[in-house]
Amino acid sequence: MKQASARIERSGMGMPIDNRLYGSFIEHLGRAVYGGIYQPGHPSADKNGFRTDVIDLVRQLRVPIIRYPGGNFVSGYNWEDGVGPKENRPTRLDLAWFTKETNEVGMQEFAQWLEEVDSELMMAINLGTRGADEARNLLEYSNHKGGTYYSDLRISHGHKDPYNIKTWCLGNEMDGPWQICSKTAHEYGRLAAETAKLMKWIDPSIELVACGSSNSKMPTFGKWESTVLDLTYDHVEYISLHEYYGNFDNDTPSYLASNLVMDNFIKSVVNICDAEKAKRHSNKQINLSFDEWNVWFHTKESDKKIEHWIEAPHRLEDIYTFEDALLVGGLLITLIKHADRVKIACLAQLVNVIAPIMTEEKEGAWMQSIYHPFLHASLYGRGESLPVQLSSPTYDCKKMEQVPYLDAVSVFNEEQQELTIFLLNRSLDEDLETSFDLRSFEKLKGIEHIVMEGFPLKAVNSFANPHAVEPKRLPLHLVQKGGIFSLVVKKASWNVLRFSTL
Ligand code: AHR
Repeated sequence: MKQASARIERSGMGMPIDNRLYGSFIEHLGRAVYGGIYQPGHPSADKNGFRTDVIDLVRQLRVPIIRYPGGNFVSGYNWEDGVGPKENRPTRLDLAWFTKETNEVGMQEFAQWLEEVDSELMMAINLGTRGADEARNLLEYSNHKGGTYYSDLRISHGHKDPYNIKTWCLGNEMDGPWQICSKTAHEYGRLAAETAKLMKWIDPSIELVACGSSNSKMPTFGKWESTVLDLTYDHVEYISLHEYYGNFDNDTPSYLASNLVMDNFIKSVVNICDAEKAKRHSNKQINLSFDEWNVWFHTKESDKKIEHWIEAPHRLEDIYTFEDALLVGGLLITLIKHADRVKIACLAQLVNVIAPIMTEEKEGAWMQSIYHPFLHASLYGRGESLPVQLSSPTYDCKKMEQVPYLDAVSVFNEEQQELTIFLLNRSLDEDLETSFDLRSFEKLKGIEHIVMEGFPLKAVNSFANPHAVEPKRLPLHLVQKGGIFSLVVKKASWNVLRFSTL
């Protein structure tokens, strides 16, 4: 059997993990809102029309922040359409997804839903068709206590206290030709800076995210970030990254190495932020908001056939396989490794649309394969990120050379006195006899070994068979010799090793 080794040092190198690393995203797109979180008349709907079966699954995930209302949708959105009495709300054409938007749900309802799932709003503003004026009005509506037109309007809508939304995205993917009113980096940077300036005059406590490139393959990636940061540096706290991964060529070895692509992307953006910092002789550090990431490829072709101008079509309903869950685990490992700079990350999205949670129209909700690694990271990935010094055999694949079979990161939670190691074995045919040097932890007691392994790579869950791909929870039996533990890490597996340090 091939061998690998891992060493973790307790002291000195920990990086605090911002809980918002386990954020997610709900867009007015497909059945995310209508038929997803909201479906009056459904057997599980509460008095507000929210599906409680979905609420239960979202609560389990402990998602601390949810980006809303888009996505591409936000670049044509009038926030005023989604507040106030429902009977007065207009139905409009949504040019982002060629659907009809009824506005039955807007920020008022979404904020109410967030209370039920115990999460916080990350609000995106429309810098496509609109700009600084609407942004300042929305902020006055949301965060000002009263005695002005928009704050009193909120009060008249039944919400006496301000929403106090802390995190705001200045538009969405403004470099993308598909975006409603896309812009050059200069046009966007100026608009974002002026909008940010007004917003912070209203509420200096807010944090702002400037749009980075739509993905790392955009021809302007790099230049876009430099120009935008040059124009917005003093006004924003974060720059966004978006990227979706897919096994388009059915080349699983390359696909499972995709989190190394994410790793490079993050490093490049960090370098650009720090170059800008140096250029300005500034003490201010810009951090990263990876506010759209996931696997998205299964429905790319079939969605092209969707009829235009219907309400809430089945769109972007990727059904995730076991290998997708492995990659999602790998992507989470990468995000945790970069916890020093990635402060916010949003799994895109949360319900029905490229999502861990799916709903049936007349029946219940169910968990996709990717629900599980995300749950594990959200539950056990809080605390400080500790690097794992790994030595692992490698493989070459079509897209990369010398890809390590093993990838890993660990998290120490001081409060709970728990150490968790997240481990991915990318090898499709080799179990790895792995030794863990954990000698810098004085006391260690195995809690459990959560593992997803042994499924066909293309196995999926469904409403009829919701447990086809799910983790096993095993006792953590490690063979120990002088503080060095060893464990066989199964081929093609996602592992969570949990220890108590009490
Ligand atoms: O999440 C789906 C879409 O992907 C979002 O609307 C957009 O921002 C991205 O291109």
